[in-house]
Amino acid sequence: MIDLQLQRLSFASPAYALSISLRHSILRAPLGLNFSLAELQLEHEQIHLGAWHIDELVGCLVLAPIDQYAVRMRQVAVREDFQQKGVGTALVRYSEEVAREHDVDTLTLHARKSAVPFYQKLGYQEDAEEFMEVGIPHIRMWLSL
Ligand SMILES: CC(C)(COP(=O)(O)OP(=O)(O)OC[C@H]1O[C@@H](n2cnc3c(N)ncnc32)[C@H](O)[C@@H]1OP(=O)(O)O)[C@@H](O)C(=O)NCCC(=O)NCCS
Repeated sequence: MIDLQLQRLSFASPAYALSISLRHSILRAPLGLNFSLAELQLEHEQIHLGAWHIDELVGCLVLAPIDQYAVRMRQVAVREDFQQKGVGTALVRYSEEVAREHDVDTLTLHARKSAVPFYQKLGYQEDAEEFMEVGIPHIRMWLSL
C-alpha cells in the first residue's frame, strides 16, 4: 500500500481547486463535459475529501447530504497513474467514517456501470435497474452504515 494522507478539503480552497481539476480530468473531460458554475456553487454545502501522496492530490470524492438518514457519495476520482493501488478503497472507507460521524444510516451513490465491481468488492449493494447520467449507464448502489 502506498503512503496516503486522507483529509477533508475546504470548499473554495487551493486544495479544492486541485480536486476540481482532478475530477475534471478523470470524470468529465473523457466525456467531453465541463463543470458549470451553478453545479460547483451547490458544492458549498457538500463535504470534500482528498487522498494525498506526499504533496500531490491523487484521489478525491464528495459527500452530499440527502436528509437526516442518508448521504450520497459522488465524484469519486483517482488519478490514472494511481488507480488499482488501493487509493479508491482508502477514500471510500474514509468517506464511510465521515458519514458515520454525521449519524446517517445509509451511504448511497450513482455508480458508473464500469465501476460497479469496485463498489461490490467494498460491500455495496445495487439496484437492478440502470439509468443514464452524463450520457453513460449508471446503477444506484448503497451501503448500510
Ligand atoms: C473506480 C476507481 C474510483 C477505483 O479506485 P482505485 O484506486 O483504482 O481502486 P482500488 O485500487 O482501491 O481497487 C480495489 C479493488 O477494486 C478493483 N477495481 C477497481 N476499479 C475497478 C473497476 N473499474 N472494475 C473492476 N474492478 C475494479 C481493483 O482491482 C481492486 O480489486 P482487488 O481488491 O481484488 O485487488 C478508480 O479506478 C477511478 O477513478 N476510475 C475512473 C473514474 C470512475 O470510474 N470513478 C467512479 C465513478 S462512480
